[in-house]
Amino acid sequence: MSDLWVEKHRPQSVQDIRGQLPVVQRLTIYSKNKEFPHLLFAGPPGTGKTTAAMALTKDVFGDDYRQNLLEMNASDERKLESIRTKVKQFARTAPYGSAKFKIIFLDEADALTNDAQGALRRIMEQYAQTCRFILSCNYSSKIIEPIQSRCAVFRFRPLSDSAVKNQVIYVAKEEKVNLTDDAAEALTRISQGDLRKAITALQVAAALDHNITRELIYETSATAPPEALHQYLMACKDDGFHAARRRLKELLDKYGLAGTDFVNQLHRELYAADFLSESAKLDLTEWMAEVDYRLVEGGGEHIQLDALTARFVTHLKNE
Ligand SMILES: Nc1ncnc2c1ncn2[C@@H]1O[C@H](COP(=O)(O)OP(=O)(O)O)[C@@H](O)[C@H]1O
Ligand SMILES: [Mg+2]
Repeated sequence: MSDLWVEKHRPQSVQDIRGQLPVVQRLTIYSKNKEFPHLLFAGPPGTGKTTAAMALTKDVFGDDYRQNLLEMNASDERKLESIRTKVKQFARTAPYGSAKFKIIFLDEADALTNDAQGALRRIMEQYAQTCRFILSCNYSSKIIEPIQSRCAVFRFRPLSDSAVKNQVIYVAKEEKVNLTDDAAEALTRISQGDLRKAITALQVAAALDHNITRELIYETSATAPPEALHQYLMACKDDGFHAARRRLKELLDKYGLAGTDFVNQLHRELYAADFLSESAKLDLTEWMAEVDYRLVEGGGEHIQLDALTARFVTHLKNE
C-alpha cells in the first residue's frame, strides 16, 4: 500500500466517494446494473474523477477488475499510436469472467490534440462492442464534440467545505494523528474544494508533528491565515508604508509565500475584510491584478510588492 495518504485513503467503492451527489447517484445505478455507456468525467483537480473511474470499475468487476481494465494517462501517452496499440491488444481477448465488456480508462484526455482525439473517436467506435471508455478531463470544452456526444458526461464540482472537512477528519483518525477542529477548518480553507490538496497538506503537517494545529497547517502549506492578511491591510490603512511593509515581510517569511501566492491569497481574503469600503476593495482588486500580471511576467518581487503596498497606503489613509 502506498505511503501517500491520498492513495491509501482513496475510496474503493462509488458509495464511499464524498460529495458529488448527482454523480454518485448516477454511478450507483451503473454499478448495480453492471452496465453503462462511454463516460466522460469533467471537473477541477482533486475532486474524485480518477477515484470514481477506479471505484466504478471495482464495483462492476469485483476482485478480478484488473483483468478487465486498461488504464492509460493521456499526458504520458501523447502519441496516439501507443494508445491504439494498447487498446488493440487489450480488446483482442474477451472480457474476463462473467463481465459483458472491458473498461478502458483514459485519464486526462484533454492532453490529447484535436487530431489525436479524432483518431480516438474512431477507436472508440471500433471497439464499442467489447469495451467501454471512461475519459477524464479538467475542461469538457477541450474534448471534441463527436467524443462528447458519444459519452454520458459527468460534471465534478469543487468539493463542499463540509465534504473536505469530513474526509480530512476521517483520514486523521485512520492515521492516528490529532487534528484540532480549527486545523481541519484551515485544511478546508486552503484546499478550495480540492481534496488531494487537503490530504497532502495534512500529511505534510503530520510528518512534523502528530498534534496538528491550525498554525502548523498554515506554516507548512505556504498559506497565510486570514488574520495575517487582514493585519497587513489594517497596517496599510492605519500605520503607514514602513509598518505595512514590515508586516508584509514578516508574513512572507513566516509562511514561506512567493509574491504571487501573497497577491492571490490576499485577493481571496479581501472581500472578508469588513473594515474596508466596497469601493476601496474594487480599487485594490485592480491593483492586485496588475501586480499579479507583472510578477508572472517577471517583474521583481520586492519592487512590485512595495509598489502595491505604496498604492494601498496612499489610497487607504483617506478611507
Ligand atoms: N470525492 C472524493 N471523495 C473522497 N476522496 C476524494 C474525493 N476526491 C478526491 N479524493 C481524494 O483525493 C485524491 C485525488 O483524487 P482524484 O480522484 O485522483 O482526483 P482527480 O479529480 O484529480 O482525478 C484521492 O486519492 C482521494 O484520496
Ligand atoms: Mg485524476
